[in-house]
Amino acid sequence: MDELARVLISEDELQTRIRELGREITADYEGRAPLLVGVLKGAFVFMADLARVIDLPIEFDFMAVASYGAATKSSGVVRIVKDLDLALAGRDVLVIEDIVDSGLTLGYLKRNLLARNPASLEVCALLVKQGLQRDDLQLKYVGFTIPPDFVVGYGLDHVEKFRNLPYVGIPNNL
Ligand code: IMP
Ligand code: MG
Repeated sequence: MDELARVLISEDELQTRIRELGREITADYEGRAPLLVGVLKGAFVFMADLARVIDLPIEFDFMAVASYGAATKSSGVVRIVKDLDLALAGRDVLVIEDIVDSGLTLGYLKRNLLARNPASLEVCALLVKQGLQRDDLQLKYVGFTIPPDFVVGYGLDHVEKFRNLPYVGIPNNL
């Protein structure tokens, strides 16, 4: 793992911010039992840590999407590889995303999930890349805004590698 050039967000910074997000979500959803929808694969690490600092009777489901096209750029054409197991009607749904780059993946996902009539639908994204998204995404919870570099670690991959790094970093040699 020493091919990583530098740490962008350390393990401590990640965990501190995630505890803050957990407190915010706990307060906002008081008295309710939100359904966390994790977007595989990238969100699995973030979701596991975030869920354990939310003090509510949350439930979990997962969706896997793949975008057609090149490895490091989103094409905007999204394919559902694994759909949810649970119904969303009447549920308070909180989508957990690893990173929003162009926002095309999330835009597609939100339209798809809203069509299933949840009581509410919000998004919690660990990372948002600066300046590239449309405004209509309405990201309620954001961990960190980062420069538009390609990052890996803490769930994020490059060709399936680096997901297990406990921090977010910028790799060399891509
Ligand atoms: P978007 O559709 O451009 O917002 O891209 C979103 C998806 O592309 C994310 O859910 C990631 O799977 C992937 N992605 C975007 N930027 C990065 C990155 O810097 N590192 C790893 N994956 C990324
Ligand atoms: Mg990916």
